[in-house]
Amino acid sequence: MDKILVQGGRRLNGSVRISGAKNAALPILAAALLCDGTNTFTNVPDLKDIQSTLELLSHLGARCQMQDHTVQVDAAGLNNHEAPYDLVRKMRASILVLGPLVARLKRARVSLPGGCAIGARPINLHLRALALLGATIELSHGYVEASCAQLRGADIYFDVVTVTGTENIMMAAVLAEGTTILRNAACEPEIEALADVLNRMGASIRGAGTPEIVIEGVARLHPVTAQIIPDRIETGTFMAAAALTGGDVRILGADPTHVDAVIHKLRLTGAHIDVQDGTIHVQSNNGIGSVDVKTLPYPGFPTDMQAQFMVLMTVARGSCLISETIFENRFIHVGELRRMGADITVSGNAALIKGVAKLSGAPVMATDLRASASLILAGLIAENTTEINRVYHLDRGYESLESKFQQLGAVIRRVKA
Ligand code: EPZ
Repeated sequence: MDKILVQGGRRLNGSVRISGAKNAALPILAAALLCDGTNTFTNVPDLKDIQSTLELLSHLGARCQMQDHTVQVDAAGLNNHEAPYDLVRKMRASILVLGPLVARLKRARVSLPGGCAIGARPINLHLRALALLGATIELSHGYVEASCAQLRGADIYFDVVTVTGTENIMMAAVLAEGTTILRNAACEPEIEALADVLNRMGASIRGAGTPEIVIEGVARLHPVTAQIIPDRIETGTFMAAAALTGGDVRILGADPTHVDAVIHKLRLTGAHIDVQDGTIHVQSNNGIGSVDVKTLPYPGFPTDMQAQFMVLMTVARGSCLISETIFENRFIHVGELRRMGADITVSGNAALIKGVAKLSGAPVMATDLRASASLILAGLIAENTTEINRVYHLDRGYESLESKFQQLGAVIRRVKA
């Protein structure tokens, strides 16, 4: 397995361009299954999760190709309703093919996504909503089997805000007969991006990006060409890295309106952040102050930025509390940060972080995608060298992260296994 070595102590300087958003691309690629023609998507990030998705779509009968961040998916030949365990286990977001398969083929057999390092991550709300749309749902041998004669619009309330749940049901409802209302829907920018693409395909969706989404079913959709929005979590990761290292970084190609909460919290730590013409300029030269954070559904502070922000707090002046309200086990990175000298106490879903003067480099283990990024950030300021193992987690969600950091002056390199 590859590892990444980071030599601490460099201030980041220069500019970096943000890639397309993984969590926008995944549902939009799944939405291509709804069309019997060729969709073209640009600014698609080159990631393991994208490759896994294209492998799954091909298994279902679609013809996929990716060339320099442009993906074409021709789902005219969709002829297989089964997403097998050996493909789904690689990436739980494979569950996003469930809604489109039931809508297009009237049946689906999808392996249940297993557990995950950060939490149980059940899909009960996806299944309950699909049943409300008229699908018959059966669970057997680790698979969910869904079928219907025709999906019919329904009034659906999500007990918990679920991002892929909202996306899955939105995609199922666009071809249902009648009107569907999604209440307590997720409001993430990726939901709006998906609705924009579906509406351009001929769907009729109102309210995406708000807690109430209304979908009028249509008979069929047609293929389009669409651009993937920039990755707000990659944006936040580089903003945090600039603040952490006392650097001066311009972040290009991001959408500043998608990172309001992160900008607000970083400014409270003392970072100077200017937004002009789509460029986010982060400067930090007077240390880091402690700031409490609670993760919440969008537009709250994103759970996918919790680990990165925690690294800042480990060397901040004072103490702070970070509360993780979305996932029940998303403090796995704490143990690794402690090994680097951080002073963190965890109690339930809260972590108390007392700032220390410095972290020290050490061999550490990545455990999930965003925890991997946080360990790189810690390595950027730790004394001596930090060795991050199991970086395959990183490759799932960040495109050429180490070369982007190198461009900003970091001493970081990947050691091939
Ligand atoms: C999406 O995961 C993202 N993944 C995650 O990003 C992100 O952390 C998460 O949303 C929260 O923002 C993609 O978009 C591909 P949820 P998702 O359903 O949809 C509970 C990353 O690093 N829940 O919004 O799986 C669930 O257990 C990844 O890019 C149910 O109880 O998350 C969790 O506590 C990590 N039943 C909460 O809701 C359900 O049926 C939010 O989960 C569904 C969810």
